[in-house]
Amino acid sequence: MDTPNLEWGKLPFGYIPTDYNTRCLYSNGAWGEVELSSSPFITLHIGATALHYGQGTFEGMKAFLGVDGKVRVFRWQDNWERICFSSEGVLMPAIPKDKFKKAVFETVKLNQRFIPPYGTGASLYIRPLIIGSGAKVGVSPADEYMLIVFVTPVGPYFPQGFKGVDIQLVRDVDRAAPLGTGRFKVGGNYAASLSSLVRAGKEGFKTVLYLDAKEKKYIDECGPANFFGIKNNTYITPDSTSILRSITNLSLCTLAEDMGMKVERRRVPVEELSEFEEAGACGTAAIITPIKSIQDRETGKVYTIGKGTDEPGPVCTKLYNRLQGIQYGTESDRFGWTEVVE
Ligand SMILES: Cc1ncc(COP(=O)(O)O)c(C=O)c1O
Repeated sequence: MDTPNLEWGKLPFGYIPTDYNTRCLYSNGAWGEVELSSSPFITLHIGATALHYGQGTFEGMKAFLGVDGKVRVFRWQDNWERICFSSEGVLMPAIPKDKFKKAVFETVKLNQRFIPPYGTGASLYIRPLIIGSGAKVGVSPADEYMLIVFVTPVGPYFPQGFKGVDIQLVRDVDRAAPLGTGRFKVGGNYAASLSSLVRAGKEGFKTVLYLDAKEKKYIDECGPANFFGIKNNTYITPDSTSILRSITNLSLCTLAEDMGMKVERRRVPVEELSEFEEAGACGTAAIITPIKSIQDRETGKVYTIGKGTDEPGPVCTKLYNRLQGIQYGTESDRFGWTEVVE
């Protein structure tokens, strides 16, 4: 098994070709067998509902090569539940758990040489997607679907690593409507966020903080991640019908409780930003990205978080170390979050 010629410690969060991916097709009312492919391309009908009506969903998960040489997949069952939830949201058939697991684990196993070594800060990103592949011209769900799972080695989403970032609060763009598709992991939400994300980048910010689309009073999604704030020994994260239920965030809630903190999932008014001792964006890709400042693009007001320095605060640091410890196998997996790839 040749080791790919990659600088593991400098990997971007981007696509690097790997050896294999897996696919599973749905037709005549049933899912078929999981099949292997070495091609990064698919043949798709020009009338596929995924292309026209956004009928599709995806997931983001990671596998980690541990200190003990074992490869661990983090909380895959939660990603399976969420892909089924998103599928239901856009009227696609649920992928059976055993087929999802087989596709994910086979793809990881077959691309083992691309799993970044322990200590490089990189990991193997797993991207399952389900798309409506059957042709329709009127707006209606397809009769055929395709599950694809591919993997690619990645470094941190925000290349500065575990250091404070400046983010931009926007009021002129909504990522998702309160009763729309924000809670599903579907492409339309990301299409809706692209213009504000790119604009924020040009204006010097790492990502965007959205407000609730209805009242513009409460914190909503934080780019491709959930937001959390820390104050008075409490971990606070927005409750909203338009954000994705982050599995990283769920894990951090559990870890925060385990560390003796209170956990609150509730509406978070914008003004509360000035009270947080620490804040972060969390997600599979973002892991924990500490936030050092939030600038309101419309009013120019800057909320400085904690000391406003690059240095992450003590709670973010502890949460980050415990989460990564479980993922890389340096800390015991007390919550049963990882499964070793045999
Ligand atoms: C919009 C959005 N919110 C939150 C998250 C974080 O979710 P998770 O922790 O399950 O990766 C992601 C990334 O998957 C995302 O794209």
